[in-house]
Amino acid sequence: MHERILIVDFGSQYTQLIARRVREHQVFSEVVPAHRAHEHLGEDLKGIILSGGPASAYLEGAPTMSEAVLEAGVPILGICYGMQWLCEHLGGAVVPGESREFGFTEMHLDHREGLFSGVSADTVVWMSHGDRVEKLPAGFARLAHTADCPEAAIGDEARKLYGLQFHPEVAHTREGITVLRNFLHWVCRCSGDWTPGDLAQELVRSVAEQVGETGEIVLGLSGGVDSSVVGAICQQAIGRRCHAIFVDTGLLRAGERELVENTFRDHFELDLTVVDAEDRFLGKLAGVTDPEQKRKAIGYEFVEIFREQAKRFENAHFLGQGTLYPDVIESVAAHGGATEVIKSHHNVGGLPEDLEMELVEPLRLLFKDEVRELGRVLGLPEEMVARQPFPGPGLAVRCVGECTPDRVKRLRAADAIVREEFERRGEHEGVWQYFAVLTGARSVGVMGDQRTYEEACAIRAVQSSDGMTADWVYPSHACLQAISNRVINQIRGINRVVLDVTSKPPGTIEWE
Ligand code: XMP
Repeated sequence: MHERILIVDFGSQYTQLIARRVREHQVFSEVVPAHRAHEHLGEDLKGIILSGGPASAYLEGAPTMSEAVLEAGVPILGICYGMQWLCEHLGGAVVPGESREFGFTEMHLDHREGLFSGVSADTVVWMSHGDRVEKLPAGFARLAHTADCPEAAIGDEARKLYGLQFHPEVAHTREGITVLRNFLHWVCRCSGDWTPGDLAQELVRSVAEQVGETGEIVLGLSGGVDSSVVGAICQQAIGRRCHAIFVDTGLLRAGERELVENTFRDHFELDLTVVDAEDRFLGKLAGVTDPEQKRKAIGYEFVEIFREQAKRFENAHFLGQGTLYPDVIESVAAHGGATEVIKSHHNVGGLPEDLEMELVEPLRLLFKDEVRELGRVLGLPEEMVARQPFPGPGLAVRCVGECTPDRVKRLRAADAIVREEFERRGEHEGVWQYFAVLTGARSVGVMGDQRTYEEACAIRAVQSSDGMTADWVYPSHACLQAISNRVINQIRGINRVVLDVTSKPPGTIEWE
C-alpha cells in the first residue's frame, strides 16, 4: 500500500495538473469528484488537496463536499475555490472582489516557514479569481498577500489547514513546486514511495482488469511514443491478445513504416499487422480542404479499419489508443461544456457513437513527458521514447488545402529535409517538434532566368513541455540556409521557404 493524497475536484481545468505535480513528487494520488470525496478517506490517506473551480463558494448550488472530510484529521490544502470552500465551511466569509486578479501577480509573504519554507519573500504567482476571502475562519492567519488580495495564502498551523488563492500547480507560479513539495513532504509527511515503475504496474494491472480473462485489444499503433507505450502496457497486460494495427495512411513521414516495422518486430512480441490504406485515405480526402472535415474524415477511416481488423479476432471488443490528457481537454468540453473545443484530435474527437468497442486508454490522464518516462521504465528503446510527437492525422494537418498525392509527396520530402538538417547539427536537442508545413500560399519566384509560381513551405519548430503551450524556436542561420537551399532545389513545386514565428497561444503547433 502506498501513501495517498486525495485530490478533490471542484471542476478546475487544472485538476489533472495538480495530480501530475503530486506524481512528480513520487506520491500516489487519487482524483475524485467533490460530492464523493467522503467515500475515499482511510488510513493510508496522508493529505487532501481541494482543486479550484469556476463557481462562487457563497452561491446556492455551488459544488460542495461532505464536511466529514474536514474531520478526517489529515492536512488539507485548498487551492482557489478550494480555499474559498474551506473558508465558507469553517466560519469565514467569501465575497465578490472589487477587482479581479488574472495572470502573473506579485505576492509578498507574511510568513516564510512551513508551507512557504524556501520561497522568496517577494515572488510571482498565477492568479485567476474574481471572489476573495473577506473574513478568515477562527484559528487561521494570513501567510501571504498581493496588492489586490489581502488573503493570498492563509493557514491554521495547529489543524494543518491551508488555503492558497493562487495556483501553485501551473508553471507560471514561479515557486509553486516548492509550495507543493512543502505541503506533501513537510506538512503531510509523505516519504515519496510512489515511483514511475509503480505507475507502470498499476496501468498494466488496470488494462488486464478492464479486458478480463479472454478479451482482446485492437491497438492503433502509430509509431509515436504514446501508442508505443500503450503497446508495451497492453503486451505486458495480456500478451498476444493485443493485436497492434499499423495503418499506412499515405500520410506518414519518410521512413516511418520501415522504422515501425523494424522496431516492433525487434523489441516486442506484439502481434503486428500493417494495413496498406493510402488509396483509401487519399480517396476520402480528395476535394476536402476544411481542417475539421479533414480530421473527421481521417478519424472515420481509422475507425473503419480498426473495426474491420477487429472482425478477424473473436473477442476483440476493445480498441486501444494512446490518448493523452492534453488531447482530452482540447478535444472535449471538460466539466460539462465550459471548455472550448480547439481541435478534434482524431483519437478523441472523431470516434462514432456506435463504435461498439470499449476504449482502452491507459495514458488518458498523463502528460507527454510522463509517458516518455513510462516508456523508459517499460523498456522501450530510447530512439522510440525520445521521438518528436507526430499527430494521428499525419501530414494531412500540415498540408494546408487539399491533400493530393503530389502535394503530400512534396511535403514528405520537405519534412525529411527539415528533420535531417536539425538532427545533423544537433539542433533538435530540447526541441519539442520540428517539421515542414505546405502552406498552400503560392508566390512568384525566379529560377534559372525563368519565372516560377509555386508553393511556400514553412519551417515550424517549437519548444514545449506538454504541447498545451509552446514557444517558437529560432534555428541557426546555417540550418535555415541548408533547409531553404535543399527544399527549393530538390523539390519541384516549392519555390519559397519561410519560418513560422508564432507561439501557442495564439497559434497552435500544427497548422490545422
Ligand atoms: P496543436 O496543433 O493542437 O497540437 O497545438 C498539440 C500537440 O498535439 C499534437 N496533435 C495531435 N496528436 N492526434 C494526435 O495524436 C491529433 O489529432 C493531433 N493533433 C495535434 C501536435 O503534433 C502537438 O504535439
